[in-house]
Amino acid sequence: MDISVSNAEPAKIKTGCLVLPVSNQRKLSGCTAAIDKASDGYLSNILKQGDLSTKLAASLTLHQVPNIAAKRVVLINTAGNKSTDPISATDFDKVAGSQARALADINSKDATSCLLETEVDSKDLCKKAQSLAQALVAHNYRFDMHKSSKAEPVELKKLSLHCDNKKNNKTVSTGIDRGVSIGNGMQTARDLGNMAANICTPTYLANHAKQLKKALPSLKVSVLNEAQMEKLKMGSLLSVSAGSEQEARLICMEYKGGKASAKPVVLVGKGITFDTGGISIKPSAGMDEMKFDMCGAASVFGVMRAVAELKLPINVVGVVAAAENMPGSKATKPGDIVTSMSGQTIEVLNTDAEGRLVLCDALTYISKYKPDVVIDIATLTGAVIIALGHHTTGLMSNDDKLAADLYEAGINSDDKCWRLPIWDEYQQQLSSNFADIPNIGGRAAGSITAGCFLSRFAKDYQWAHLDIAGVAWKQGAAKGATGRPVPMLMEYLINRAS
Ligand code: BES
Ligand code: MN
Ligand code: ZN
Repeated sequence: MDISVSNAEPAKIKTGCLVLPVSNQRKLSGCTAAIDKASDGYLSNILKQGDLSTKLAASLTLHQVPNIAAKRVVLINTAGNKSTDPISATDFDKVAGSQARALADINSKDATSCLLETEVDSKDLCKKAQSLAQALVAHNYRFDMHKSSKAEPVELKKLSLHCDNKKNNKTVSTGIDRGVSIGNGMQTARDLGNMAANICTPTYLANHAKQLKKALPSLKVSVLNEAQMEKLKMGSLLSVSAGSEQEARLICMEYKGGKASAKPVVLVGKGITFDTGGISIKPSAGMDEMKFDMCGAASVFGVMRAVAELKLPINVVGVVAAAENMPGSKATKPGDIVTSMSGQTIEVLNTDAEGRLVLCDALTYISKYKPDVVIDIATLTGAVIIALGHHTTGLMSNDDKLAADLYEAGINSDDKCWRLPIWDEYQQQLSSNFADIPNIGGRAAGSITAGCFLSRFAKDYQWAHLDIAGVAWKQGAAKGATGRPVPMLMEYLINRAS
C-alpha cells in the first residue's frame, strides 16, 4: 500500500474515489463544500434527503457525481454530538476505520482522502495522518498462512491524503510513516500470535528474529540456546521448558538509533509458545487459546520492526524469553525448587504460573544492557481479565514517572492501560516455607502478586510490567491476535525520541 500526501485541487483529481468529511450536514465546509459547489449542489441535495446516517463515522458511497474528475465519492459523517465542535481523538480513529472499511468495499485501485481537514481534539495534523494510515494498514490485515485458499487481496493500492497547504506536507508524511510502521508492527505481532503453536515454537521465534535482521540490517540479533542459558544459571527459565521437547530460546534484538552513550529502553516479552499449564495442567476447554501466550513476545517483535523502519533516534533492546510449557516426564513438579539467575531460590507451587519464571531470568540478564527503562509485556494472569476486562492492559511499576508516561501513551494511542499497586501489603503474600520466594501468592489480587514477583528481579532500574492477558487476542467468532500493545509502546517510544 502506497500512502502519500497530495496538494491537488479535489474537484480536479483523477482518482477512483474521493473521500469527503461531513461535519455538519446542513452547512458543508472545506473540500466537501468545494465539491458540492462544483457539482451544482449534488451533495447537499442528497444530504437533505437524509441518505447519510447521522451516526458518527457512517459512510455513503456516491457514483457519477457531476463535474468532478473522481469516479466515486465516499461521504463520511465526522460530526460529534454538536456538529460545530471538534470530535474526540477516539472518534476520529472510528472515522479512520470507517474510511478503511469503505475503501475496501469498493473496487477502487486508488483514492484521495480529505479527512485531514476534520477538526479533532488533541490530535494535530501529524496524528490525524498517522491515524488514517494506521487504520488502513490494520484493516487490510489478513491471516491465511494456514489456509489452502488465500484471501483476496484488497484492491486499493494507493491512497493520497489531501493537504491544502504545501508547507504541511512534511508533517503529514511523518504521520503517514508512523501510521504505516505501527500498522506493520501490529501485523507482525498479529501474525506471530495467530500462528499455530506446532509451527510457532521458540526456535521459530528465534529464526523470525534472524529474518527481521535480514529485512532491517540496523538490528543486531543474538540468540541463547539452553546450554548457554545453563551456563548463565537461568534455572528458573529452564525449569519451564524442562517438560517439553522444544528447547527454550532467549532472543535479543538490539537497535541503536540514538547516541552510542544513551542508555536503552529494554523491552522484555513473555514468549510461551504454548501454555498447557505443565503438571498443574489447565482444563481442556479453550486451551487452544494458549497458543496466544507468546503475544507479549510478538509485540516486542512488532515494536522492533516499527522502530527500525522508522529509524527512531533512540536505543531500544527487545528481548524475548521463549519456551513451551508442557507436562513431559522431565517437567518441573509442584513443590520443586529452582535457582534463578539472580540467585534467589523459587518454590514452584504451581507450574501454570510459568510466565514469571521465564521473565525473572530475562529481567536479570538484561541488566547487562545498562537500561534506562525496562518494560516487560506478558499475557501473565487470568486475574487481570477479572480486574480490567478485555479493554485495558494492567500496568504495574516501581516508578511513578514511567507509569504516568505509559498511561498517557495508552490514552493517546487508544491502547489504554491502568495502574495497579504493588505495595508491601501485596508483597507479603509471596512467602514460602522452603525457598526465598514462591511463584504464586494465593487467589486474592493474582495480577498484583505476579507483578510483585517480577519486581523482585527488577530492582536495579526503572521498570514497568504490562499484563496484556485481557487485550492481546479476541475470542469467539473474531478469534485472533489484536497487535496490542504495539500502539501504546510506539507512542511511548516516539515521545521519548522527540
Ligand atoms: N498464560 C496464563 C495466563 C492467562 C490465562 C492468560 C488465561 C489469558 C487467559 C498464565 O501462564 C497462567 O496460567 N496464569 C495463572 C496463574 C496462577 C496459576 C497463579 C492464572 O492466571 O490462572
Ligand atoms: Mn500458565
Ligand atoms: Zn502462561
